[in-house]
Amino acid sequence: MNEESQKTGPTRRVVLESGAAAGFFLATGLPAAGQQMPTARDHDDDAGTRVVDPAEFTLNVNLRNYSVVVDPRTTLLDALRNHLDLTGSKKGCDHGQCGACTVLVDGQRINSCLTLAVMHDGDTITTIEGLAKGADLHPMQAAFIEHDGFQCGYCTPGQICSAVGMLQEAAAGWPSHVSETLSSPSVSLTDAEIRERMSGNICRCSAYPNIVAAIRDAAGEV
Ligand code: FES
Ligand code: FES
Repeated sequence: MNEESQKTGPTRRVVLESGAAAGFFLATGLPAAGQQMPTARDHDDDAGTRVVDPAEFTLNVNLRNYSVVVDPRTTLLDALRNHLDLTGSKKGCDHGQCGACTVLVDGQRINSCLTLAVMHDGDTITTIEGLAKGADLHPMQAAFIEHDGFQCGYCTPGQICSAVGMLQEAAAGWPSHVSETLSSPSVSLTDAEIRERMSGNICRCSAYPNIVAAIRDAAGEV
């Protein structure tokens, strides 16, 4: 200990370094100086990473069958983007909080980041790439263009898929949190209804007024 530390006691740095060294010794029985820090490769080798057999199944996406062989823990979003090259569905939060990954499964909207691909063997999946009929845009896509419902566009595929699913839910009479009645056979799509039903889709550019206008417009055409 130098003269300075004799006067003032050990510095904070010395205490931290001593603590770290003691921790290594207690945990491993080896002095810190002789401890080799693990690398990612060492960790994999030493830990004997558990091998998971790949799952083989078929995904029907946009009316086309894809044979898929993936780790069974692969989300539907990752399978679409990384294995089928359908990158229209975007990964925003990867936690079910932004809606950027919304696709339609058997006509109903879901967050594809929250479901495993292997769970959808035999389902009919529609992504943003499958909404247009050839050169003819889906009415919701055309309405988004007409009303300038996108700015950076990153959230737009999820917004459009969600809007298509939402219109079908409203037409079927599914109530929302702001619906006045729970038993109406169909729902009047007020701005409040549209906003509530689209509240799972976040747009960082705040194009919301135009998105609502586009959906209101398309509601008469879909
Ligand atoms: S990426 Fe799926 S909800 Fe955000
Ligand atoms: S248009 Fe940019 S996030 Fe929605």
